[in-house]
Order: sequence, then structure tokens, then C-alpha cells
Amino acid sequence: MRPHRDFLHVNDFSREEIIETLALARELKDRRNSHEDIRPLAGQTWGLIFHKPSLRTRISFEVGIGELGGHPVYITEKEIELGKRETIADAAQVLSRYLGGIMIRTFSHADVIELAKYADIPIVNGLTDFNHPCQIMADIQTVHENFGRYEDLRITYLGDGNNITNSWLELAQELSFEFVIGTAEDTLPDMKLVDAVNKSGKSRAIIEHDPVAAVKGSHVVYTDVWASMGQKDQADAKARKLQPFQVNEKLMQHADKNHIVLHCLPAERGKEITDAVIDGPHSKVFDQAENRLHAQKAILTFLMEKM
Ligand code: CP
Ligand code: NVA
Repeated sequence: MRPHRDFLHVNDFSREEIIETLALARELKDRRNSHEDIRPLAGQTWGLIFHKPSLRTRISFEVGIGELGGHPVYITEKEIELGKRETIADAAQVLSRYLGGIMIRTFSHADVIELAKYADIPIVNGLTDFNHPCQIMADIQTVHENFGRYEDLRITYLGDGNNITNSWLELAQELSFEFVIGTAEDTLPDMKLVDAVNKSGKSRAIIEHDPVAAVKGSHVVYTDVWASMGQKDQADAKARKLQPFQVNEKLMQHADKNHIVLHCLPAERGKEITDAVIDGPHSKVFDQAENRLHAQKAILTFLMEKM
């Protein structure tokens, strides 16, 4: 096995490594704006495996790998039938002979762990049903751009306890902030992660069923679709439960006056967030989407340095 690191959970990186990677993301953003060329992936081909649709992840990885001097190859389920046509272990070992690294977006988190176990190249998680670590790096980069710090903020997530919520809970085990999850009784995130945050001695994680109490004094208010990819059959049931947690102007009056609003996108406008808020003065959702590119270029550069 060649020495390498993976990025499957944001807390696969230590607190110091997260901060180092975010500093690099800021630097890469500045250097891209001044058209500087840096090519740590020169001569490498990276595989991008997608079993779910994507706009941001697909395009930001393809563009980012190209800008770092590498070559991306887009791979769909139809072609490789990961885990069906042959074992994940066999596919991992073969792909390791061709590729410099793999980004994978799929349903089963266990499949990504299995791929990483048998591959001897870096594996980057581009979203599973369990978490979405690249997204959370771009999110916290956006928080830093607006507040000049990562820590000592009150961050409220409103809506479905899902892969985004779980990644925030993984980040909260490394960086220190108050993380409030405003959600219904039966749309909770992974409660093991909530316990892990509260035992980490770094952050506090709070489940709040009252939307006003959840938002009160928050610096960052975050939401995501109520029904994630692969769960669209639950959309009506979740919408009924989560309607009180809709991010709208009335509820945002309770947030800190300088709050920002984030959404990983794609948004279902009029459901989890209103047009007035997503297009309003507190919304940073397009900066956040842009930061996917810079944060991921930093993650890939960091992984290359660890080879
Ligand atoms: N936020 C995000 O991951 O978007 P895509 O599903 O379009 O990649
Ligand atoms: N929770 C959403 C995030 C999309 C980027 C989903 O998994 O569909």
C-alpha cells in the first residue's frame, strides 16, 4: 500500500489540518483571481464516480482538477456497476493502477469506506447518504469570509437531519462553535454524532424543536432540501413536519442582525427557503457554491502533499 490520506469525513483531518486546508483554500481563491498557475496534480488523472446527479460537485471537481494540472474522468454507475459487476475491492485495486485519486458520490457510505480500504490512492467523498464533507469545508470557508473566524459563533441548521447536518456535526468535533439543529421529533440527524460533539469538549450541539428558539441570536442560519436524493418518496411527509422550520423573513427576524444565510443548493424555493431570503441581503449561497471549487482544490493539494 502506498502511503496516502483519504477525505471521507471532515474530521479525518485534525483541527490544525482543517485550518491549514482552509487557509490554502483562501490562498487558492486569491491566486485564481490573479490568474496564477499552480499544478500539484500535473500528469495525474482523477476518476469522478457519480451514482447520483450533481451540478456543483461535478463541475467544481472537473474545473478544479483541470486548474491543478490534472485530468478528470467522469464515470457513471452504468459503466462500472461498482460492487455489482465485480467486488468493490477488485475495482479499487484496478482503479488504483490507473488513477491518481478518486472522488465518489454515491448512496451507501459503507461502499465508500470499502473503496478506500482497498484503494491505494486518495479517495474523496463527494456525498453519501451519511455525509458531505467537501460541502462543509466550503461552508466554513464562507463563514470565515463573513466573520473573520471559524469559532465562537452560533450556527443554526433548520430542517431535515441529513448528510449535511451530519457533516456539520463532524466539523463541530474539531472546531468550536454552538451548533443548533432546529428540526422535528423524527427528522433528527445521527444522534451518535450529537453525543460525540458534546463529549468532544470542543463544541456544543443542541437539538431544538422550537424554530424561534433555534434561530435566536444565530450568526449563521443554514438549510437544505427537506427530502434528499434517494428519499424523494418521503417529500410530502417531511414537508408537513418541517414546514415550521422554513427559512423565511419572519423567522429570520430572530437571528443576529448581521447573520448570514447558507444553503448547499440545489434549493427547492418556496419549500425549505423563500425567494425573499435566498435572494435577500443576508444570503451568501452563491459565494458558498463558488467556494466548493476553492475548498476542494485545497483538499486535493493537501492530499497530494501527504502522498
Ligand atoms: N451542493 C451540492 O453538492 O450540489 P450538487 O448536488 O449539484 O453537486
Ligand atoms: N441533502 C442533499 C444535499 C445535496 C447537495 C441531498 O443529499 O440530496
